[in-house]
Amino acid sequence: MRLFLDTANPDQIRTAASWGILDGVTTNPTLMAREGREPRELVREIARWVSGPISVETTSLDAEGMIQEAREFVGWAPNVVVKVPMTPEGLRAVVALRGEGIRTNVTLVFTPVQALLAAKAGATFVSPFVGRLDDIGHVGMDTVRQAVEILRRYGFPTQVLAASLRHPLHVLEAARAGADIATMPFATMEQLFRHPLTDQGLERFLADWRRLQAELSSRTAAPAGGS
Ligand code: G3P
Repeated sequence: MRLFLDTANPDQIRTAASWGILDGVTTNPTLMAREGREPRELVREIARWVSGPISVETTSLDAEGMIQEAREFVGWAPNVVVKVPMTPEGLRAVVALRGEGIRTNVTLVFTPVQALLAAKAGATFVSPFVGRLDDIGHVGMDTVRQAVEILRRYGFPTQVLAASLRHPLHVLEAARAGADIATMPFATMEQLFRHPLTDQGLERFLADWRRLQAELSSRTAAPAGGS
């Protein structure tokens, strides 16, 4: 399973890349706006730290506009993937971009049938949003589970990218559901490392090691024989 960061912050991306477990990045207009920088320069900087897919989202509402944006985005870095919304125009764009060899990520997916449509159009990735469904009282992970089931049953090559994940349990459930990718905020990725018993265990090992070193050096310091 691949792990992506859902951020446009280069410092976070650089840090996660240094951990050796970062497979890609997803962005959206909200995350871009948070950085307040010129998008092309920002994406180019991100591409310095990550060689896996970097999703950059279109903001046009018509297919022609999305296609134009897509052609521009892929010129920014070779690993850019074009994110388009789950609309009829978005899927028209996916079909056209597929013909041009441009990879796409269909976003704002909330039902398994939307995922099926994206796969039929030839999307490279489809992004079911988990947290936003949880927010309105639905079980967001059900969409991921059913999308994986349907796409595998029919042999679609489209990869399921579980998005809008908010905490480690979401990541666990996405992995168990068979999602190809989980994308998450930096804080969630950091949390994946953590367990209080890991911290306590490490502390105890180091304390014991220090005690051993002190004992050995006091033995070397003490004169042999004693008389
Ligand atoms: O990039 C899309 C997605 O991951 C958004 O997450 O937390 O804003 O619902 P969130």
